Amino acid sequence: MDRDFAERVTRVEPSATIAISNLAAELESEGVDVVDLSVGEPDFDTPENIKDAAKAAMDDGATGYTPSDGIPELKDAIVEKLHDDGLTQYGTENVLVTPGGKQALYEVFQTLIDGGDGRSPSASGTSSRSGDEVVLLDPAWVSYEAMVKLAGGSLARVDTAAHDFDLEPALDDLAATVSDETELLVINSPGNPHGSVYSDAALEGVRDLAVEHDITVISDEIYKEITYDGREATSLGTLDGMADRTITLNGFSKAYAMTGWRLGYFAGPEDLVEQAGKLHSHSVTCAVNFVQHAGVEALQNTDESIAEMRDAFAERRDMLVDLFAEHGKDVPVPEGAFYMMLPVREDDQAWAEEAVEEAAVATVPGSPFGTPGYVRLSYAASRERLREAVERLAEADLL
Ligand SMILES: Cc1ncc(COP(=O)(O)O)c(C=O)c1O
Repeated sequence: MDRDFAERVTRVEPSATIAISNLAAELESEGVDVVDLSVGEPDFDTPENIKDAAKAAMDDGATGYTPSDGIPELKDAIVEKLHDDGLTQYGTENVLVTPGGKQALYEVFQTLIDGGDGRSPSASGTSSRSGDEVVLLDPAWVSYEAMVKLAGGSLARVDTAAHDFDLEPALDDLAATVSDETELLVINSPGNPHGSVYSDAALEGVRDLAVEHDITVISDEIYKEITYDGREATSLGTLDGMADRTITLNGFSKAYAMTGWRLGYFAGPEDLVEQAGKLHSHSVTCAVNFVQHAGVEALQNTDESIAEMRDAFAERRDMLVDLFAEHGKDVPVPEGAFYMMLPVREDDQAWAEEAVEEAAVATVPGSPFGTPGYVRLSYAASRERLREAVERLAEADLL
């Protein structure tokens, strides 16, 4: 049958990790031991107290639908966490609980971004209107681009690679890129794939531009709890002038090792939550009931487990930086999250394919993040596996 797919899905590509993970899977099926540094999830199990809370909730009958925007206990716990982070503008009416941070972002883009009219000027002879503009800081997590395209928006991008992924020196470029036409700007600190934590001065620069051009900003804080060397990631929404123009996004996948549970949320102005709530209730209905109860436990009783994970990631980061230095490779030192950008040759896709085929090490090429010449590797793997990966890359002459 000749199927006529909706134009919107043809605008996006499958995730960037697919080609490399297919190659890795093929080798693994042939018995090759692949060191997989391509995955974006902690290698720790979900803490026991969180699992216990989910089991208890299930036994107590928490298996039906919940209020679409989340159970009151979880919304209260989220508001408490946001207040602890200095985001005192948010009450429960500002929070929408979603099945994962990704769904929260999807709903925000769908709610705020209008598509263009889809006509090209040359084809139609009339002027075309492009979709609302969203500005990304490169390298940017791959799903932002896909979500903007699915909403019909247009993209403008600012590269931070020349500044080792620091935002402050890139503020002039950002100022030259944003305009009164910009609808949304996305900030992700600590960031995937770069691991940078933006300074207060950088965030103030973002704030000034957002206020000047009346831009709404998504602050994706999903890696907020994972920072190193005593550094803290400031929440953009705490800055003067940002309370009503920041959408704060977070989730349970990374800090609590809960990727497969699918739980996240966003907090934002009440009118946005109301509008997005319509999309939410007509699509996912609500996040899973007993998972939401586990989320309350995660927010209230998991500080020790987070600290253990953070310390383990910090040690691995230090080890990797040292190992690469021994092989003459200087890498920008990540300040948070659990990713590192390794500079490779311009054709990062070919490098990543070679790394799988010749060294049995899986990474993600930088190009889909908007930064060719790098690959992203995740150090959510044991020290032994990380050491093995560097040795293999060195032996294959890839460093
Ligand atoms: C920057 C960033 N934001 C959001 C997410 C969404 O995570 P989840 O949908 O698992 O909550 C991810 C996951 O990889 C991410 O890296």
